[in-house]
Amino acid sequence: MSNNKLYLYPVWLRIWHGINALGIILLGITGLSMQYTNMESPLLKFSSAVSIHNLVGIILMISYFFFFITNIIKNNIKHYRISLNGLVNRLMKQGKYYVFDYLKGNPKPFHISEEEKFNPLQQISYVGAMYILVPIVIITGIALLYPGMIIEKIYSFSGIRLTTFLHSLAGFFILIFLIIHLYVITIGQHPLRNFKSIITGYHEAE
Ligand code: HEM
Repeated sequence: MSNNKLYLYPVWLRIWHGINALGIILLGITGLSMQYTNMESPLLKFSSAVSIHNLVGIILMISYFFFFITNIIKNNIKHYRISLNGLVNRLMKQGKYYVFDYLKGNPKPFHISEEEKFNPLQQISYVGAMYILVPIVIITGIALLYPGMIIEKIYSFSGIRLTTFLHSLAGFFILIFLIIHLYVITIGQHPLRNFKSIITGYHEAE
């Protein structure tokens, strides 16, 4: 392979990512449909939205267990270890690049390598989504599938309502993550360059 090409996304990661992207989109559509559509003229029939949401949720849960375990075995987890050393400074530099420098055509503050494939903002958003939001959605999702597990009252609040609230809130933040993720991957010389990388596995240096 030429020097300006780095193999950053192995097959297992690309397959998981594809299933995950499709699954999250389906969960988002069915979840929003359950939450917001009018019962008289629903976007999707309520019972169909529930069945699809439950089925896709279980498939994704299995896919996430695969991701968490394989990420350790293949040591892709090294990219998810946040170094606190100079973190604020690095985050500010990358934020400044996205807000000002990118539009002025200034050079990127961080360069991708096999050792560090994420920039600091990407890294923190991936860790937040994968290791905080996703586990909250999985745990509350399992509890909502088996409501017998949920404590009836937490102080004066209904346990089911609190669990549903947490599940929807974390799901909502994952959708916000997805919108930002889709914007960020289009930044660069060509809007489809990063998209090509997650299909072929190879990152082409700019
Ligand atoms: C249509 C939907 C999506 C598209 C087109 C897409 C695209 C991409 C691209 C191009 C990359 C490689 C470049 C980069 O690292 O920034 C990537 C990586 C990644 N995406 Fe997505 N993505 C989508 C949905 C999602 C969703 C729903 C999640 C999680 C909730 C997600 C999580 C990740 C993670 C964690 C990585 C880094 C994987 C690694 O290298 O370890 N993506 N995505």
